[in-house]
Amino acid sequence: MGSKLSVNAHDSSHSTNRKRPILANAFKHGNNSFDKRPNDKISVDKRSIEKSSGEKRCSAPISRLNSIKDGEPRLSAGSSTADTSLLCFNTFQKGQEDRMNANHFALKVLFDGNMLDTVKDNIDFHSSSVQVLDIGCGSGSWIMDMATEYPSAQFTGIDQVALFPHDIRPANVLFQKRDVLLGLDFEDNTFDFVQMRLFSLAFTRTQWAESLKEAYRVTKPGGYIQLLEVQIRDPGDEVVHTFVEKVCCLMESNDQDPEVCKKLSAVVSEAGYEPLEDIKRVINLQTHVLKTELMYIIDISIESCKRLMFEVYDIESEEAFQELKRIYVESRMDSSESAFHCCVGRKPFS
Ligand SMILES: C[S@@+](CC[C@H](N)C(=O)[O-])C[C@H]1O[C@@H](n2cnc3c(N)ncnc32)[C@H](O)[C@@H]1O
Repeated sequence: MGSKLSVNAHDSSHSTNRKRPILANAFKHGNNSFDKRPNDKISVDKRSIEKSSGEKRCSAPISRLNSIKDGEPRLSAGSSTADTSLLCFNTFQKGQEDRMNANHFALKVLFDGNMLDTVKDNIDFHSSSVQVLDIGCGSGSWIMDMATEYPSAQFTGIDQVALFPHDIRPANVLFQKRDVLLGLDFEDNTFDFVQMRLFSLAFTRTQWAESLKEAYRVTKPGGYIQLLEVQIRDPGDEVVHTFVEKVCCLMESNDQDPEVCKKLSAVVSEAGYEPLEDIKRVINLQTHVLKTELMYIIDISIESCKRLMFEVYDIESEEAFQELKRIYVESRMDSSESAFHCCVGRKPFS
């Protein structure tokens, strides 16, 4: 997987002289000046960064981003998350299944399995009466992994985009194309365990509440919900900080909460669940055993929101984009971390 990363600061295919005008253009909107030192390390003009972040300005409102026409498929007009299609690493774009599958196995290692101990200790997944629902299942990696481990239980994955497999899957898995915000066609109190994972960049604040209400409705009394979210405000050097703040600014302009990962207990509690477990796991991108996987995921995520990057940084060429991505990825690798929060709640019996 690491071979997909192209972050070599000494890449001979780009001369330093050619980089300067591209970089100057790339960071024009943010008023940041990036340049290369003689040793080809990234140098950032801190004063212009401070000036930029002090302006607290989003250079590309979501509505403007959505007007981009490049022939790529978009979320359907009736979709509840159409407005965020560019920001949420649009699932129609190339490489999304790869990113989701890589994410799945990294998260499984990070959290020592597919569910927190509270769930594992309280549900007998070897029972044929156990029903599990994954809302926003994406490529289906989590639910197929669970279904393979527990062949007696019944698993259902729903997603508004049919990225999941249609033919080859464990026999105890069903997939449905559904939008949770339009309501699910399951009876009340159907599922012993409901998961919703990685929705920070898909849901507005209101949509979090709406989707949790629907999750609560279909959870059995005494059943469990598990939410898992990525930290958006990752720490790091000025390059990372500037990028992260631009993303957060865009999220805020679309009423999305960049800090939702820290509020998962409150989110489940507001829906009526009793929060039981809330864990944060951090991946230091210089030292952690998962650093290569995470750098691959970061690389492919940036690639998949290319159109957003063109707008936010006012860049026009593929070459400029690749340079911008290279600088960002290198900064993440040198100075940053990734973190994930996982929370479990239980629906009361009465
Ligand atoms: C970042 S992906 C995460 C996928 C999967 N949960 C995982 O962990 O790999 C978010 C998923 O949520 C889905 N999604 C977003 N809004 C949705 C909605 N309103 N109803 C159903 N699925 C939705 C997207 O299509 C996408 O597959």
